[in-house]
Amino acid sequence: MGGNQGDWQGGNPRKLDKHSAVFVPNQNSGGNGGSGQNNGGRRGAPPGLSNEPTYTQKSTLHNSSEKRHFSSDQAIGRGSHNQHKETVQPEPLFSNVDFFGPDAPQARIDKVCAAINNLKDGKRYKEALKVLNDVKFEVPHLAPLVWFTPGCINVLIQEIVLMYPVVNSLRLKPETADNFLPVLGLLQMLASHDDVRKPFIEANLHTYLIPLVAKPIKKSPFSHLIASTLMVFGCLVRSKNPHTIAALCRTEIVPLVLKNMRKGYLFSRIAAAYVLMNILMDDGGLEYICQHHERLFTVAQVCRDLIEEISGLSHVGSDKEAQLLFRHVIRCLLLLTRNQTAAANLADYIPMVVKNNDGTIISDEQIRKWIGLLLKSLKISVIS
Ligand code: TRP
Repeated sequence: MGGNQGDWQGGNPRKLDKHSAVFVPNQNSGGNGGSGQNNGGRRGAPPGLSNEPTYTQKSTLHNSSEKRHFSSDQAIGRGSHNQHKETVQPEPLFSNVDFFGPDAPQARIDKVCAAINNLKDGKRYKEALKVLNDVKFEVPHLAPLVWFTPGCINVLIQEIVLMYPVVNSLRLKPETADNFLPVLGLLQMLASHDDVRKPFIEANLHTYLIPLVAKPIKKSPFSHLIASTLMVFGCLVRSKNPHTIAALCRTEIVPLVLKNMRKGYLFSRIAAAYVLMNILMDDGGLEYICQHHERLFTVAQVCRDLIEEISGLSHVGSDKEAQLLFRHVIRCLLLLTRNQTAAANLADYIPMVVKNNDGTIISDEQIRKWIGLLLKSLKISVIS
């Protein structure tokens, strides 16, 4: 897109990127659709914003002299390229949102816009990915900028798909992994954003990641790739959104998460347990796991085996990561007991170290409290 200089000059309220193709929506200057607008029941804007973002999946894009609607499908390259001229000025869908952070210097805005554009440029793609990862915590709404800029998600999907044969052949060079990890970094950012998560799921982007976690491999650099992919799922479930959890349960992600908890590298196990824990926090997720005995017992067995393994480690008392994993697993068991069938059947899956609950293995107060609750709901009397 060559762009039309006139488009972002002369009092246009949008901070349009001088490089042209980046979607930088209205910085509303007080027109309709302001702060009072309903944002469709989505969760609030991140801290620091005076008003919630009011955009919906359809967003407006200034493209030379006409306005164009595009949906998330188009953003990932699957949509039709309908262009219809608007006769009515569309409502500003992004209003009062400070995309680049409060008082962001123009230099940063230019840098980010250039990087978003450069994602689509084979020669500058690597550098662009790095820039975007470096600024992702500073630019509060980088995720919608990337999501709604046509072509960006295509590039990320292509990169994901290119990893399938690599993962299958078990031949992953460290440089290949290093080049791919920033893609996962951007996906984590997209999955974490309250207003991108929904189109992310609707576009089935999460399903593209499943082949990457299908085989738990402890060896580096695979281990990092798998842990980072599981963290994308972690960002999705963290929202506690029942629709997101339900969408994940419709895939085979839970058995794969369990596989990674069983055999993965420590960080993968932690990320996998975190995903499972968040699924179990959701009523629909709990129901999904408890509706078949086989699923329930598989989950309970994995938790039991992990607890036994961790408590057998000589250095567990000083190993922060092992403790975090232990914490997640205990919490998973406790969450399971919210279901009656689980509460009636789990007692046999509680290892001795947990029944003792004497703090010799893990002294963390919170964990001991959860263990106390777990034993109580399973009607197990504390041994010591
Ligand atoms: N396909 C099996 C099933 O449907 C595996 C599975 C799906 C599973 N979801 C699970 C196993 C959750 C354990 C937990 O039951």
